[in-house]
Amino acid sequence: MARIHAAITGVHGYVPDFVLTNADLEKMVDTNDEWIRTRTGIKERHILKEPGKATSDMAVEAVKGLLEKTGTDPMEVDMVICGTVTADMHFPDTANIVADKVGMKNAFCFDLNAACSSFLFSLVTASHYMESGRYKKIIVIGADKLSAVVDYTDRSTCILFGDGAGAVMLEPSEQPTGVLDYILKSDGSGRDLLYQKGGGSLYPCSKETLEKRMHYIYQDGRKVFKYAVEGMKNTLLEVMKRNNLTKDDIKWLVPHQANMRIIEYVAKMADFPMERVMINIDKYGNTTSATIPLCLWNYEDQIKPGDKLLLTAFGGGFSWGSILVEWGKPGK
Ligand code: COA
Repeated sequence: MARIHAAITGVHGYVPDFVLTNADLEKMVDTNDEWIRTRTGIKERHILKEPGKATSDMAVEAVKGLLEKTGTDPMEVDMVICGTVTADMHFPDTANIVADKVGMKNAFCFDLNAACSSFLFSLVTASHYMESGRYKKIIVIGADKLSAVVDYTDRSTCILFGDGAGAVMLEPSEQPTGVLDYILKSDGSGRDLLYQKGGGSLYPCSKETLEKRMHYIYQDGRKVFKYAVEGMKNTLLEVMKRNNLTKDDIKWLVPHQANMRIIEYVAKMADFPMERVMINIDKYGNTTSATIPLCLWNYEDQIKPGDKLLLTAFGGGFSWGSILVEWGKPGK
């Protein structure tokens, strides 16, 4: 029997309407547009402000667009993985909630949290499920409402993050396509440099956790910066080397959008021209699990079936890695 591969047959994304600009942030904390643009590359970010709306609502919009684009009946979907660090609630999984809201009644669903690497880890996991031959349609989501856990009095983090969701469809193919190779890494010793400590089993919600603002994201940006550059660069170069690829064999570099300076540095180390690096950090900021699928959605018209892409990310945990992907033919 021919080996089954997981072809990527569609992508869609969603960002909320409300735009928070650098000028808006200047009125909230001691910062300025010039600092934010030169240190991060971010000009604005989209924020889900509507009361009662959560990560699942953005994911639903991305998934609905994906189903329409690929001509898929929701009942055909076998499986949904939602990469996220801002699940609607601790349980049930956001993927379950999305499936219910969209009517994907035959899908089994779970969330995957690998911080900013959640989408990469989810895509690899889903591809292996598809390769088992048991599934015909799997949806992989990367979605986050970081504004729910950002401290808008902390200038070192509140300028960085935005909200959004992206989703891709995987379908079986007998041709080698989809995820061709990957290196994924984890190192829990980095847990004190980037975290949201309150609200879990270690520090359940209490008066003290609220007073100490432990439910917000904390990051030692300067230290994380160095690990991020090293992690993305090393895995990227290793994947290229072991597949005998040069920059000319890769059509697009798709990096996690945490900082424009990190993106430029990683591209430079891989000798990759910036015209072939996907970028949306200027308009969305760091949308965590959503950066990579949102990039794929933004550049969709420029990606052709058969194009090779290198996806790379680094996040809390630490978690990081690089994936070599071949773009598939569009669904129906
Ligand atoms: N506006 C103005 N000044 C600011 C500021 C802001 N929003 N935030 C911090 N500063 C100040 C600091 O207080 C510091 O002042 P000091 O020199 O007087 O102490 C100075 O700017 C430099 O701060 P630093 O933290 O060294 O800046 P940086 O160049 O490292 O940029 C980040 C900060 C967060 C943008 C950057 O470190 C980063 O992107 N880190 C990695 C993010 C990442 O990859 N995360 C993993 C995936 S999410």
